[in-house]
Amino acid sequence: MTEKFDTQIDRSGTCAEKYDSREHYFHSATAEPFWVADMDLPCAPFIVEAISKRAMHPVYGYTGVDEKVYESIIWWMEVEHGVCVEKDDILLSPSVVTSFAMALLAKTKENEKVVIISPVYGPFYSIVRNNNRDVIDIHLIFEEGKYQFDFRAILEAFSDKKTTMVVLCNPQNPSGRLHSAEELQIILDMAKDNNVTVFCDEIHSDIVFPEKVHTSVLSLRHSENVIVAHSTGKTFNTSGLNTSFLIIPGILKSSLTNMQLRLHTGEVNLFGKIAITAAFTPEGREYKNKVVAYIHENIKQCVEILLKLEKLQIVFPEAGYLLWIDFSYYGSEDFVSNLLIKEANVILSNGSFFGPPGFGWFRLNCAHPRPVLLSAVERIYDVFSQQPEH
Ligand SMILES: Cc1ncc(COP(=O)(O)O)c(C=O)c1O
Repeated sequence: MTEKFDTQIDRSGTCAEKYDSREHYFHSATAEPFWVADMDLPCAPFIVEAISKRAMHPVYGYTGVDEKVYESIIWWMEVEHGVCVEKDDILLSPSVVTSFAMALLAKTKENEKVVIISPVYGPFYSIVRNNNRDVIDIHLIFEEGKYQFDFRAILEAFSDKKTTMVVLCNPQNPSGRLHSAEELQIILDMAKDNNVTVFCDEIHSDIVFPEKVHTSVLSLRHSENVIVAHSTGKTFNTSGLNTSFLIIPGILKSSLTNMQLRLHTGEVNLFGKIAITAAFTPEGREYKNKVVAYIHENIKQCVEILLKLEKLQIVFPEAGYLLWIDFSYYGSEDFVSNLLIKEANVILSNGSFFGPPGFGWFRLNCAHPRPVLLSAVERIYDVFSQQPEH
């Protein structure tokens, strides 16, 4: 399996955003891209097979949802996350970001406030602002290499009657931090006391490293007040299939269903449904565990090289395939980005994409063939080890 993952796949001619949008966003058509969070590793062969088999049937008309889609989600949530989900709790949706927009429209009104806990996946900000809601941006506290919730600031924000939603991301993107059950329970309790709806993005939650545990908010007290978004996108590298799902175990479900009817966002991709049923299986679990082991080793080896640059701060992730690195010692975001692209020939995600506390940081996608990734990281080491100390 390692051999297979080590092989670079040519993505040219597939409109891969990571490659084809380099010029537009980073003014380089050639620097190796480690920014967009999809894998350069192959999707599981049995998923490819299931999709290919369906693709051979020449009619791609409107399709309903096979019961197997729900059954496989229910099975996966139980074996992977220890949560018991009912079919009625599940809503299919084209993507996690669409799900967030639906949840926002359903559970908040214009000019209300939404708590975002940053650094975090950038589109949360734009969705809130583009829908005329206000962002209350609360920064995670970075202490001893680990991000922690600022409970006091969160409670203060919740106490404002105009605050009606909080967005959680667990595992956390960009840092790969797993929030503990205790920490999450405090947030859920405070949210319940203050009539704040909890939207929790758990898209990275299947990729968890040895001895680490992901706690789904679905397993906690007051889960009737949560909306959880998940997908096969990250775990099985199927983001281009645009199939995600929401789990809403409580009374919030009806308002989300109504919003789906208003927006007509309930139709999901034919091939995405096939991917879900092929992925959320014992075979899928086995394949996923191999991918996780490969990524974990990638991350360990990248960290080993980068730690030689003593001026970097690196957050060792507990989950996901992203490595969050503080380059601020070396200069501004523009300066570092320029060095990365022009000198090291690599593109990382700029930290400012993840909100104000991200400035100075960069995110490296480690779900790439190991030889390609390590050679890029060696180049980063070479360039920054030659930077003057100050
Ligand atoms: C935390 C997080 N949420 C959501 C998304 C996007 O998911 P989707 O493509 O299903 O909208 C990403 C993609 O990078 C992500 O990292």
